[in-house]
Amino acid sequence: MPPNTQRTLLCSIDEIEPNNARGFEIQGQSILVVRHETQVYAYLNQCPHTGVELNWMPDRFMDLEKEYIQCSVHGALFKINNGLCIAGPCQGRHLQKIPVAIENNLIYANPDLI
Ligand code: FES
Repeated sequence: MPPNTQRTLLCSIDEIEPNNARGFEIQGQSILVVRHETQVYAYLNQCPHTGVELNWMPDRFMDLEKEYIQCSVHGALFKINNGLCIAGPCQGRHLQKIPVAIENNLIYANPDLI
């Protein structure tokens, strides 16, 4: 079977506030997309500490200062631009990155690469 090269439209970039994130489901996987300055970054919604989802409230993925992605379970902090955990029980580990692209203000994910 040929690989599925279809991209998945997530939303318009304007639907995510600057320095904030939104959650999505694609191909049965929970992901989060963070908007930071002119870039967007996406990760599998799975904490490297225990494997649970990072958020306990819809679309709540950021710390209070909106500088880091934060796991709601034990408070691990992850860098927005590469998913590296810089504090918490999984320090030194990464969130799993999901490839995304912006075209005409629309954010697409490539689910093949999950
Ligand atoms: S489950 Fe995320 S820090 Fe423990």
